[in-house]
Amino acid sequence: MATKLEDIVSLCKRRGFIFPGSDVYGGMAGTWDFGPLGVSLKKNIMDAWWKFFVEKRDDMFGVDAAIIMNPRTWVASGHTATFADPLVECKECKSRFRADKIAEGISESVTTEEFLETHTKCPVCGKENWGPIRKFNMMFSTHVGAVLPEDTKENPELAEKNIAYLRPETAQGIFTNYKNVVDTIYPNLPFGLAQQGKAFRNEISPRDFILRDRECSQMEIEYFVRPDAWEADFEKMRALQHEFLEGVMELPAENIHELEVPAEDRAHYSKRTIDFMFDYPNGEEELMGLAYRTDFDLSNIQRESGKSMEYRDKNTGETFIPHVIEPSIGVERLFLAIMSTAYTEEEKDGKTRVLLKLPENLAPYHFCVSPLLKNKPELVEKAREVFSMLKQKYGNVTWDDSGNIGKRYMKQDEIGTPKCIVVDFDTLEDGTVTVRDRDTTEQTRVKIEEL
Ligand code: GAP
Repeated sequence: MATKLEDIVSLCKRRGFIFPGSDVYGGMAGTWDFGPLGVSLKKNIMDAWWKFFVEKRDDMFGVDAAIIMNPRTWVASGHTATFADPLVECKECKSRFRADKIAEGISESVTTEEFLETHTKCPVCGKENWGPIRKFNMMFSTHVGAVLPEDTKENPELAEKNIAYLRPETAQGIFTNYKNVVDTIYPNLPFGLAQQGKAFRNEISPRDFILRDRECSQMEIEYFVRPDAWEADFEKMRALQHEFLEGVMELPAENIHELEVPAEDRAHYSKRTIDFMFDYPNGEEELMGLAYRTDFDLSNIQRESGKSMEYRDKNTGETFIPHVIEPSIGVERLFLAIMSTAYTEEEKDGKTRVLLKLPENLAPYHFCVSPLLKNKPELVEKAREVFSMLKQKYGNVTWDDSGNIGKRYMKQDEIGTPKCIVVDFDTLEDGTVTVRDRDTTEQTRVKIEEL
């Protein structure tokens, strides 16, 4: 049976993975809060990415830049001028939409005339009476320092001077530190700088659970290469993404589709982009992007800051501005791809078993330890001993003595715990425990010291 998005949303809330942001006050559109289980899965995803792309390689290094950056960043990057979506308003009911999301077959660069030709009806009132397409900049702005809203009304120059933006991509925190890194650790080309962190976009229509958020987490690499080597390095990065998505995240290769993005749909900085699309429950959507950003960012930073961004080759003495290959993935989109792959319903003896077949390295808990009966102190004591031993060794281990053993298995299956360990009366005799496998439900006896 095909997995429905509603099933995943419901499981995420029921089992403490994800809650609507500010739930207690009725929510805040486009924001989500991760609960105890969700934060653990999210962290495991981010750690696995960091290990694969940074720790296991000698050509990648990390940075962790500030979210609020000097506003000149966004002038140089082109975001102030061009980071905008096509906004259209229904003149009848005043609802506002992203034009390219409600009409078939048009791109983000759609004009008013092209949009009107699609004869799209308003999804809210059903009428066809549209205003012109307007460009809506998606950066969230804020004021830095002791500036009151009324000060800026009377003095627009003050507003301009103190305005700052929440970063719409983590990438610029990497580009602005490129020179600092080159001057401190002297890496050889090609090398990459990786960063994980929050990014903010004032999306016109946040939707599909955590797929399109106003606040998301990105994991990005800017891979600095020789200008004449970009094609080979692009291919290298492309293969690496598949290795990560399919090998480490265990996403099925048949659910990942590469889309060569046509020039008119590419971001302003890109000369080539491949979007990695994924078959989500609600259809195919972008999971991540791989872009060739040329020397666009470093050249613009050089012009805006007046500081040289040139790289000097230690062997040949040549100087040039490196070009950049950028793989960029949103943690929430990867989280949802993993959840939709793992979510399984099985029919057995007229009952439905829900389980999350999460890869073992990503599951919020590796093991669950329980005493067979919670009112038998000798079982509880022994189970506590096993629990402490495993917790010291692996960290991600949970304790469960609620309900009966069947209910515990049901709960652990739903949160994706690969192995449940049960201490029973035989444990006290022969030092073995029952280990139950999440996917097969098979039970085996294992000696405690061999766990
Ligand atoms: N630095 C390049 C960049 O930001 P992007 O295609 O705009 O490019 C990269 O975003 C990735 O970030 C996307 O492929 C997606 O995984 C994630 N992402 C972007 N906007 C998002 C949003 N509103 N909600 C969730 N994830 C988002």
